Amino acid sequence: MIELKGLNKWYGDFHVLRDINLSVRKGERIVICGPSGSGKSTMIRCINHLEEHQEGDIVVNGMPLTQDIKQIEAIRRNVGMVFQHFNLFPHLTVLENCCLAPIWVQKRPRKEAEAEAMQYLERVRIADQAHKFPGQLSGGQQQRVAIARSLCLSPEVMLFDEPTSALDPEMIKEVLDVMVELANEGMTMLCVTHEMGFAKTVADRVIFMDQGQIIEENAPEPFFNNPQSERTQLFLSQILGH
Ligand SMILES: Nc1ncnc2c1ncn2[C@@H]1O[C@H](COP(=O)(O)OP(=O)(O)OP(=O)(O)O)[C@@H](O)[C@H]1O
Ligand SMILES: [Mg+2]
Repeated sequence: MIELKGLNKWYGDFHVLRDINLSVRKGERIVICGPSGSGKSTMIRCINHLEEHQEGDIVVNGMPLTQDIKQIEAIRRNVGMVFQHFNLFPHLTVLENCCLAPIWVQKRPRKEAEAEAMQYLERVRIADQAHKFPGQLSGGQQQRVAIARSLCLSPEVMLFDEPTSALDPEMIKEVLDVMVELANEGMTMLCVTHEMGFAKTVADRVIFMDQGQIIEENAPEPFFNNPQSERTQLFLSQILGH
């Protein structure tokens, strides 16, 4: 479903991604962790071309990512993304946020787009808030709207970049629950998160990044119980230690 081969990226002189190789099968759930600044966000943002890479190949669902705008748009239609800070339009209602791309990008009839959006809002248990504005919702509710909005485009893959790290503790679970449900339904997912409980229960593979490289990857059980690299050990002791 996703293939990264020999991916390298620089910001000016700064070598932010170093020879990243990663292959994700359909239905696989990957958790990516690592210290701040290690390149996690940059890596997943390269997959839908929110960031441009300089070397290496990216293939999503059989489509190579090139400079061709049609190619980029085709990949973006396949890849949903959820950010740390929701990125909802504040002047549009929850329902309007969800229907924006289906109506204007996919050219779907408004009635049909709204009906489908309501189904997704139901799924993330927020349909009763459909006519409110984002500012009238809690952080956890807004993040669930952001997930529903992505699902409205029927993506093959979902990318999550620390979707719970801006939330108050009591709201983290409601967002993780939605993500667990998505995982159980077979969605291919790449999640940057430090929610290690989520990683243990949901991930097929956990990837540890440091200084722009994938240092270690493994199934959750060996990853957490028997990390191989010293850097992984140190990182895990820091985040699991408190
Ligand atoms: N637009 C940019 N221009 C220059 N440097 C950047 C830019 N975006 C990110 N960087 C740098 O690239 C490195 C990797 O950033 P990235 O956001 O991918 O890290 P991260 O692993 O997601 O960190 P965090 O856990 O804090 O989100 C950091 O050192 C960051 O300062
Ligand atoms: Mg990041």
